[in-house]
Amino acid sequence: MGSIFKNKKIIRLEEVDSTNSILAAKYSSRSLPEGSVVVASSQIKGRGQGQSKWQSEPGKNLTCSFIIYPEFVDASKQFYISKTVSLAVADLVGLYTDKVSIKWPNDIYVNDKKIAGLLIENSIEKNIIKTSILGIGLNVNQKEFPSSLPNPTSLLKLTKTKFDLEEILESLSNILEYRYSLLRNQEWDVIDDNYLNLLYRYKKLALYEIKGNRVAGSIEGVEPTGELIFKNDKSEILRFGHKEIEYVLG
Ligand code: BTN
Repeated sequence: MGSIFKNKKIIRLEEVDSTNSILAAKYSSRSLPEGSVVVASSQIKGRGQGQSKWQSEPGKNLTCSFIIYPEFVDASKQFYISKTVSLAVADLVGLYTDKVSIKWPNDIYVNDKKIAGLLIENSIEKNIIKTSILGIGLNVNQKEFPSSLPNPTSLLKLTKTKFDLEEILESLSNILEYRYSLLRNQEWDVIDDNYLNLLYRYKKLALYEIKGNRVAGSIEGVEPTGELIFKNDKSEILRFGHKEIEYVLG
């Protein structure tokens, strides 16, 4: 095993508001070694991207947040943290099923369904990322989902197998440590290649919604800051932040 996370602590909690919030409130002072993780059986106020909530049936899924101190990543390159974590979760899911992809900016998909979401919260001082909280919600053993969720899936639904959440967490921690070692070694090209290989709809003509209009076009890449590079049907290159462009799902 790697050595970056060698002193990591695992903090297991029953019920919390949000594992990201716990880390931010209690441990942002760097009292925890890198790679430490807060994992909860149940979140009352699980948070998703933007204003959304993360809903997860208690005891069935992985809801956890890791803490890292990636001071070597300039704020202008902060999306590499997201790429690193997305790749780690995609690697993990790929151990059990194929057709795994990363839907920009932070979703992990299997075919056209969402199996995991990430909430990455960085604290930046003078252009340096001091602390990054890596919140991961992975659907593992949940069978039924609320009808309000557009397209959820889980490892159980895909494989018809029940998983041990402790084992899943341990694998994730090991894979994340490996992926983080690539980031620490500043292997930007390797990370980019791996990410683009898994990027959902990369270079495929598809429909999107931009400011209420349907537009055909293709994803051409992602900027280091995280903006999506998009080519519309007039071959113009446009850049979008999160929520400025929506995927039209089939
Ligand atoms: C999304 O898809 O919108 C992101 C979901 C992120 C959910 C995880 S669950 C663990 C961590 N704690 C939270 O409150 N959110 C993240």
